[in-house]
Amino acid sequence: MSRHPRIARTIPTLRRELDSLRARKASIALVPTMGALHDGHISLVRLAKRRADKVVVSIFVNPTQFAPTEDFGSYPRTWNEDVAKLSAERVDLIWHPDAKAMYPDGFATRIVPEGPALAGLEDRFRPHFFGGVATVVAKLFTQCRPDVAIFGEKDYQQLRVVTRMARDLDLGVRVVGCRTVRERDGLAMSSRNVYLSADERHVAPTLHRVLKQIATRLRAGDTMHDAVHDGAVTITEAGFTLDYLEVRHAETLAPLAAGASGPKRILVAAKLGTTRLIDNIAA
Ligand code: PAF
Repeated sequence: MSRHPRIARTIPTLRRELDSLRARKASIALVPTMGALHDGHISLVRLAKRRADKVVVSIFVNPTQFAPTEDFGSYPRTWNEDVAKLSAERVDLIWHPDAKAMYPDGFATRIVPEGPALAGLEDRFRPHFFGGVATVVAKLFTQCRPDVAIFGEKDYQQLRVVTRMARDLDLGVRVVGCRTVRERDGLAMSSRNVYLSADERHVAPTLHRVLKQIATRLRAGDTMHDAVHDGAVTITEAGFTLDYLEVRHAETLAPLAAGASGPKRILVAAKLGTTRLIDNIAA
């Protein structure tokens, strides 16, 4: 049975709603989103429900993480469908500020993350991105003061940046990663998949197939160099423009020397037509 979540659009309403959720010392999980919710987001909500008594989902398409050339204006906005999905999941509260509530006139404070934010992956192609993400996520954390916050592993560098920031700034929130949800053919779910044409949609799962091939080859003892080189050829021949395909340290995202031990992550970003896709798996 669905239950319409409470909705807060201003800071005073949010405070009131959170105070009432926190009555009897209930713990709170926050799921930050930009809306256009798909099954990947729903898996974040379900993990949040297992980790805390009450679940707050924020829906805010954050302008500061988009470059002027990117898709802020056309980013899918599906408010009614999102509310219906969150009702079906019995979410307690939706935090849905407008840009003025999040960035009031005269707003002049920005977080500039380092460490994993400067790993030379997404930051190389979207230099504005992690400053925008870190600033809005720090605000979401201080606004909602959750015990736990859930982020998808699909945006793996973002997960590492936010985890580091929460620790570095003593934000008092435990950041938890949630496994990527995939379509049946392996394509990672993303709000931007709606941009793919039918032909591109057919080709898109190549990225996940290549990631799995690289992981298999590394486990079999192939060199990182050869496995990544062949993967890059496959991706390019399939019609993508490759931004990066790399094996990195899974926590710091530092580059790895040949034969390095420790947890590894294989990460890819590539453009298919005008749509930029990212994906990653553990090696
Ligand atoms: O991953 C996202 O949807 C966004 O980057 C986030 C974390 C909600 C910040 O705007």
